[in-house]
Amino acid sequence: MKNLLVIFGGCSSEYEVSLRSSASVLRNIDRSKYNVITLGITKDGSWLLYNGSIDNIENNTWLTMGVTTPAVISPDKKDKALLVLKETGVEKISVDVIFPVLHGKNGEDGTIQGIFDLAGIPYVGCGLLASAMCMDKAITNTLADEAGIDGAKWAAFTRSEYYAGNVDLEPIVEKLSFPIFVKPANAGSSVGISKAHNMDELKKALDVAFENDYKAVLEETLIGREVECAVMGNDDPIASCIGEILPTAEFYDYEAKYIDNSTGLAIPADLPEEISEKLRKAAIHAYKTMGCEGCSRVDFFLAEDGTCYLNEINTLPGFTSISMFPKLFGQVGIPYSELIDRLIAYAEERDK
Ligand SMILES: Nc1ncnc2c1ncn2[C@@H]1O[C@H](COP(=O)(O)OP(=O)(O)O)[C@@H](O)[C@H]1O
Ligand SMILES: [Mg+2]
Repeated sequence: MKNLLVIFGGCSSEYEVSLRSSASVLRNIDRSKYNVITLGITKDGSWLLYNGSIDNIENNTWLTMGVTTPAVISPDKKDKALLVLKETGVEKISVDVIFPVLHGKNGEDGTIQGIFDLAGIPYVGCGLLASAMCMDKAITNTLADEAGIDGAKWAAFTRSEYYAGNVDLEPIVEKLSFPIFVKPANAGSSVGISKAHNMDELKKALDVAFENDYKAVLEETLIGREVECAVMGNDDPIASCIGEILPTAEFYDYEAKYIDNSTGLAIPADLPEEISEKLRKAAIHAYKTMGCEGCSRVDFFLAEDGTCYLNEINTLPGFTSISMFPKLFGQVGIPYSELIDRLIAYAEERDK
């Protein structure tokens, strides 16, 4: 049996989402194939081997209700192991493959992927570079422009440029027109994102964005349906059917995504076959452009005239029971536990 290390939590604003994603992954892993080891990372960034129920992870009571022991992944390729730092000494648990069920900073942005690379242990999801590039909305937009992928008109600048008074907002506003979406370049789950309708709101929105990251991205507001495609694989990736977000809030924000359930999903989206096919092709093109491997969810705005504007690529999309990624592949006949098997197989394939 393979030793599968599942990592949950994370030093990220998306810690709570990861707990829910992880609980779903843990419930759906085929235990006859994998010996599952669970490592929790607290919101403060402490690494702990966790022994306890899945419910405690889901309810965020794992730190108090479970048994935890400090543990780290050895960066030494000879080890390929988790080093459990017991009071009596260091115990090595060998690891065959890692599934980081982490979202956002320090989990989806290439940082932890770098540790896995050093350790020489295969892992689910994109590698370091694609993870880092997809996390950064300014880099994503730059590469998408370069590859001729349709997207919103945009601008970006850093906190220091802005507060030093070196950014002239007038020409940017002229180019993008209000309302303007203001986003931290690196955040996730709609944290720090605002829609500004005038100069006053724009300045407030920039303050909020800069609380979350050193770089802000401004985008024109795209009018269209929010559609998403799940993609998985390495050199020859496959795309799922298309899903649609049916929003009730002004935009698909953190509350709508995870708290108030106000957002409905249409799976599959009600679209003509040729538009779905166009979106699937665009999703694979974007996936390859960014150098994605393993899996990603590619998000678009579908305009009235049929243009598919890329919004973003999520390299470790939500894996909760109500999340788009597992549901989209479920719709095309790949049940959750098989999905996990495939993602692990892609991790091992890339390693060879
Ligand atoms: N340029 C845009 N035009 C219209 N709506 C947008 C635009 N950018 C973002 N949104 C809305 O804001 C939500 C969150 O933005 P997104 O860039 O996907 O950030 P996150 O990485 O936090 O998911 C989107 O799902 C969409 O509803
Ligand atoms: Mg998004």
